[in-house]
Amino acid sequence: MSSQGYQVAISGLGAYIPEKILTNLDLEKMVDTTDEWIQTRTGIRERHIAAKGQSASDLGVRAAEEALRNAKLKPEDLDLIIVATITPDMLFPSTACYIQHKLGAKCGAFDMAAACSGFTYALSVADAFIRSGQYKNILVVGSEVLSGFIDWTDRSTCVLFGDGAGAAVVSRSSDGHGIIATYLGSDGSQADILQLPAGGSMFPPSAETLQNKMHFLKMQGSEVFKVAVRTMELAVREVLKKGNLTVRDIDCLIPHQANMRILQAVAERLEIPIEKIFINVERYGNMSSASTIVAFYEAVKSGKIKKGSKVVLVAFGGGLTWASTLIHW
Ligand code: UT7
Repeated sequence: MSSQGYQVAISGLGAYIPEKILTNLDLEKMVDTTDEWIQTRTGIRERHIAAKGQSASDLGVRAAEEALRNAKLKPEDLDLIIVATITPDMLFPSTACYIQHKLGAKCGAFDMAAACSGFTYALSVADAFIRSGQYKNILVVGSEVLSGFIDWTDRSTCVLFGDGAGAAVVSRSSDGHGIIATYLGSDGSQADILQLPAGGSMFPPSAETLQNKMHFLKMQGSEVFKVAVRTMELAVREVLKKGNLTVRDIDCLIPHQANMRILQAVAERLEIPIEKIFINVERYGNMSSASTIVAFYEAVKSGKIKKGSKVVLVAFGGGLTWASTLIHW
């Protein structure tokens, strides 16, 4: 064990996307929108929607099973399960406990709330637990069933989001590959520009909260857009600084997938070729905490990330929160 602690690597990745597809043309029949508006303003063509009765733990456990298979580990090898979600099965118990039970794992389990930055936040917690020597194998899941929390009559939000889950097994390693650095940021003064107001202790469920549609996601889109671009650039630069690397060293940037125009603006600010950025927003929309991990999974699977690649994950979301991870794959 060095002064930096144990090395930490991603030993397996998994993803699960529900079958049902909702296209922009489908949305044209539901609200006053067009495929053209959605594609030019967001880059999104379609998104997937969970089946009736499918909860965040149902999606998450499928992603987790694949990640465990790829890590060649069994549920009983896990020391901890961390689930990032803003659409938990229930307020409590945690979605992580449901996943622990469904997997048949025997370890601690808890949820983390950092909205779209949730997976990247959870990865940094897993990194710290393993680096300290406390645990050897941790399952980190990002899973969302946002379709249950969207106002399907509000065209300014309902076209943006989709359902899905991704998972990573994070393990102690010794081959020089793995997580180099992590970085977290937040600004609660802007909590009101992206939130789901009711259902918690500030606005407990009532006839009034239901009537005022306070159980649905609310967003001031153009405000969020500006902060997203600024903080994603910041988070990439900060994590590179911690790892003594520069933007030119990045082989693949895996950003949170909210809007194609945000990704183009981040690319311009960082002066990184757009080809180095992995983009799948056109197929899934914004899956909040599942977006970054599903993109990471697909980038590895497609060969865009190869052994030795320097990878940066970067996310931004409600809170506000932002986070990044620098990985030597
Ligand atoms: O994951 C968490 C982070 N979330 C994000 O990063 C989302 C960030 N924000 C965005 O991606 C963009 O701000 C949006 C895609 C949400 C909106 O794009 P915009 O270019 O900022 O549009 P806008 O909100 O300024 O709206 C422009 C116009 C408005 O009409 P008027 O007032 O100009 O007549 C809207 O009413 O577009 C209208 N509009 C729509 N029109 C057709 C809004 N939604 C739609 C729609 N279809 N679905």
